[in-house]
Amino acid sequence: MSRYEDFHARSIEDPDGFWAEQAQLIDWQTPPKQILDASNPPFANWFVGGTTNLCHNAVDRHLATRGDQAALIFVSTETGVEKTFSFNELHAEVQRTAASLMALGVGKGDRVLIYMPMIPEAAFAMLACARIGAVHCVVFGGFASGSLATRIEDAEPKVVISADAGSRGSKVVPYKPLLDEAIRLSKYKPAAVLLTDRGLAPMELVAGRDHLDSDMAASHRDAVVPCAWLASTDISYTIYTSGTTGKPKGVQRDTGGYAVALAASMKHIFDGRAGETYFSTSDIGWVVGHSYIVYGPLIAGMATILYEGLPTQGIDQQPDGGIWWRLVEKYKVTVMFSAPTAVRVLKKQDPALLKRYDLSSLRALFLAGEPLDEPTARWISDGLGVPIIDNYWQTESGWPIITIANGVEAKPSKFGSPGVPMYGYKVKILHESTGEELTAPNEKGVVVIESPTPPGFMQTIWKDDARFVQTYWKSVPGKLVYSTFDWGIRDADGYFFILGRTDDVINVAGHRLGTREIEESISGHANVAEVAVVGVADALKGQVAMAFVVPKAGDAVTDADVALKLEGEIMKRVADQLGALARPSRVRFVTGLPKTRSGKLLRRAIQAVCEGRDPGDLTTIDDPATLQKIKQLIVA
Ligand code: PRX
Repeated sequence: MSRYEDFHARSIEDPDGFWAEQAQLIDWQTPPKQILDASNPPFANWFVGGTTNLCHNAVDRHLATRGDQAALIFVSTETGVEKTFSFNELHAEVQRTAASLMALGVGKGDRVLIYMPMIPEAAFAMLACARIGAVHCVVFGGFASGSLATRIEDAEPKVVISADAGSRGSKVVPYKPLLDEAIRLSKYKPAAVLLTDRGLAPMELVAGRDHLDSDMAASHRDAVVPCAWLASTDISYTIYTSGTTGKPKGVQRDTGGYAVALAASMKHIFDGRAGETYFSTSDIGWVVGHSYIVYGPLIAGMATILYEGLPTQGIDQQPDGGIWWRLVEKYKVTVMFSAPTAVRVLKKQDPALLKRYDLSSLRALFLAGEPLDEPTARWISDGLGVPIIDNYWQTESGWPIITIANGVEAKPSKFGSPGVPMYGYKVKILHESTGEELTAPNEKGVVVIESPTPPGFMQTIWKDDARFVQTYWKSVPGKLVYSTFDWGIRDADGYFFILGRTDDVINVAGHRLGTREIEESISGHANVAEVAVVGVADALKGQVAMAFVVPKAGDAVTDADVALKLEGEIMKRVADQLGALARPSRVRFVTGLPKTRSGKLLRRAIQAVCEGRDPGDLTTIDDPATLQKIKQLIVA
């Protein structure tokens, strides 16, 4: 057995011993009495009886050894601001925010919804919640008021933290009006809103509800707010993600298990060391931002770069396709994390940009969120000359499920494969309908994880244990296993290859979206009778959404101008309600949609036709002419 195989085997055969050792990587106020309580599967309770705090582990723990060292490096190529906060400074900022939240009545277990651009105040807010035991729910700033309203209603936050505006490509994107509209739409109303005024867009404050953080912090300048010691199993946060239904799921995470999982992954997978700099180009609105912009690097004692801006614009707001590499050189970044889609954007830039900077500090680039195609992997690998590490995981897992654990053993990578199952994960491939385990190499099935899931993995769906069990654990007949809803194969060497989703989730530029949410938005349009949204392969974004609409007035859209107008209206509606990411790249008008005889939409057949593939078995299709019509549209 190789060193890694041995490591993995030990984590599976002796989870208590293995994770008790990993638990030493963080500080506990009270050490755990029991490592794993798996008495009520599929629920797994980690480090039972232990008390700890994420903010303590990310910030306070480092004060004695590296208080003056960089903790948070903020770079905004949108506003030209570049500012470093030491651990001491971060500590003070977090306490100020914590004191403001407490003054607004926030206590342990209360939810705080964070709808913020990529600014330091967003990280202060997350850490402040963790500090006082409040549950943060960060909603991606690119989401519009409809998406935000659903999340406010589900999370029922006491306070919402937001800002006047974000900025994209030097264009101001106001947040406050979207938040006001979302609160108006939501049946639940938060008691207070805490706002950062960046001076980018005018804000109208609602008397009695809205507070400026600068005003509040003034009275808490030297606030001392001790960390609340939380049970390991207490909730740290929820983060919403899309699934098969239109209703987003609040993925709920614990405190102690998450802290240990992140500390262990920083050591065994990312190989990041205290005092070094970590640079993840993700957004705090996504799980990668939670785990590997904010908590993971800080827990490991690393400085973390919080980057607001495009990969192609410099700090002077002029075009600069080398900005990321400039930052790697300047801050001596050792570990970098991004997404394939971002690399595909950079591929269009002058390749000489990769050679212009001193990148000798960099040890590895991690890419995740969507399949990493070989040309992209080769291009960046040749350009950087460091290992490119594909890693496969989900919002639900919180940290990599399949990758290469470089910190344990530098196993070779294979192009197209994220690697092998990580320690703690029992990953299997099952037949989708029989549930039988597929053990022969290269047999395609559903990638599943056996119980118990490791520390850091989602505890449940917020407020809905039944949905958690039903959605994730009962999808393969006859077996209580966690479905990733991804297709996969394992080759003869044990390397996994991920072959796309089994459900209606699509991946646009590394962002996970549910086609059902987009369909619900479109079907609200007065002229829409029926709609199907599918994800179609796109060279740059991985996938884009494409909508097929049956209009109410069937003949109205034979006129090209009318069709164009309706397409425009539908696109705008989705962008306004859900956000620009979800906007379909095209809306096509048809007279019928392919369905089974029982009326189930055949989205996969539509998708296959759109991508020029064989739609497969069509014996179940009710009216094959509908699919034929779509094919003609696509070819035309
Ligand atoms: O389909 C898989 C794809 O993204 C999904 C999870 O997306 P999200 O919840 O946003 O979490 C992203 C965390 C990195 C997965 O179910 N996916 C993620 N990473 C990869 C991937 N597909 C192929 N290769 C990957 N490395």
